[in-house]
Amino acid sequence: MADSRQDGLRALVGADVEVPLVTGEMRRYVNLDYAASAPALRTVEEGIAAALPWYASVHRGAGFKSQVSTELYERAREAVRTFVGGRPDDAVIITRNTTDAINLLASALPEGTTVLVFAAEHHANLLPWRHGTRRGRVRHLPVPDGPEDLVAALDGALREERAGGTAPDGTPRAGTGPMLVSTTGASNVTGEVWPLRAISEIAHAHGARFMVDAAQLAPHLPVDMAADAIDYAALSGHKLYAPYGAGALVGRRDWLEDAEPFLWGGGAVRFVTLDEVLWAPLPDRQEAGSPNVVGAVALGIACETLAAIGMDAIAREEQAFHAHAVARLAAIPGVHVHLTWDLAMPHIGLVTFAVEGREHGLVAAILSAEHGIGVRHGCFCAHPLMLHLLHLDERAAAGIRDELRGGGHPVMPGAVRMSFGLGTAERDIDAAADALSRLVAEGPRWTYCVSPLTGEWEPQPDPRPWPALPLGGGIERRRTAGEAS
Ligand SMILES: Cc1ncc(COP(=O)(O)O)c(C=O)c1O
Repeated sequence: MADSRQDGLRALVGADVEVPLVTGEMRRYVNLDYAASAPALRTVEEGIAAALPWYASVHRGAGFKSQVSTELYERAREAVRTFVGGRPDDAVIITRNTTDAINLLASALPEGTTVLVFAAEHHANLLPWRHGTRRGRVRHLPVPDGPEDLVAALDGALREERAGGTAPDGTPRAGTGPMLVSTTGASNVTGEVWPLRAISEIAHAHGARFMVDAAQLAPHLPVDMAADAIDYAALSGHKLYAPYGAGALVGRRDWLEDAEPFLWGGGAVRFVTLDEVLWAPLPDRQEAGSPNVVGAVALGIACETLAAIGMDAIAREEQAFHAHAVARLAAIPGVHVHLTWDLAMPHIGLVTFAVEGREHGLVAAILSAEHGIGVRHGCFCAHPLMLHLLHLDERAAAGIRDELRGGGHPVMPGAVRMSFGLGTAERDIDAAADALSRLVAEGPRWTYCVSPLTGEWEPQPDPRPWPALPLGGGIERRRTAGEAS
């Protein structure tokens, strides 16, 4: 019988796909890896199929199809704005993803900007600001113990910055330039939802702007930039059920308009001579090169679909999955759930855990090979936060760094993460919990080793066949099949 959760707007592409196990059976794929990349919505797939016959170059073509494509592209921009509650005068720049969006803003910071970020961030919201120190400086704040600690630390740091702050050698700094506070909306490691309204109030009270990395927030909770006074938001289509390579940066125009374009090239200009260039206004100024029309349209359709389903309803449902998963995992001996904040605080549907005595990569390999369950493992692109969660100090970090520099292959710290989304059902969480209970009680049913090529745990041998793939002979196979029929 069809799963009613797969009906209508919620339907996901590939929801019923079966995968092979090492033991020879086929199993419905249990996707518990939404936080990394979510499957495409059926509405997105169908919308793109309807748009593709009209696909042509955007903005520069007089042809009817170009005009239709341009209209779709601009509608996508507006759908994104509406979805995140952007203000009418906010710029909506189509990017590749969140990483690209944050790098774009980092490149546009006014000279002398101080960026304040917590050590709990994804690398996408840590590294671009460091790189951006060409234009300013970054101040790191420790992983907060909870929302109150977060707000107090931020308040103190902003106060110091306003007073001029101190240089690393202790000398007071002269005055302050612009300030930007950049935080995640929800942690991709612990699932904690950050208190955006409170952060925005503190930031603005000290004259700073506020940017939200909404990569994990936008798919799971309503975002309202205007109501929460969020100055910038960055998001990724592939986490929003639109895996077609587009994301967005939404926010205040002035910095993006005053800065030189992030990328230089066609589409971003009004006039060029060999000596001079007259840059175009936003959004074109920050969208050099041929835009990803298909990606943008997919993202726009996903935004409209999620809004129609109702982000409040999605958030409530995922909060229940979170509670169920934590309860199931906590009942398994030797399984430890990583949390930095009280469990009673809001969480998105994501749980990170460790299994005593088993490496995270091995646990993930066993769940996949023996049970057809897809999870993520490792450090989740948040090394400083993982070091904190695993209580690894500076010496341990230096040890890993030195071994890597010396060409070694240290056992990397990490954990296992299961994450939920539109297609999740309680039985998926139960399947994972049952599999983990069995692993703890009986051990693996197969042999595994670390591949010298990838450094990842793999079943040995791995008899699972690949499905028919559309590359590497797929076209030839289809042609032959077509000729035969
Ligand atoms: C919180 C957070 N920020 C940023 C990113 C980066 O997203 P992308 O790889 O789509 O640029 C991720 C991806 O996992 C994330 O979880």
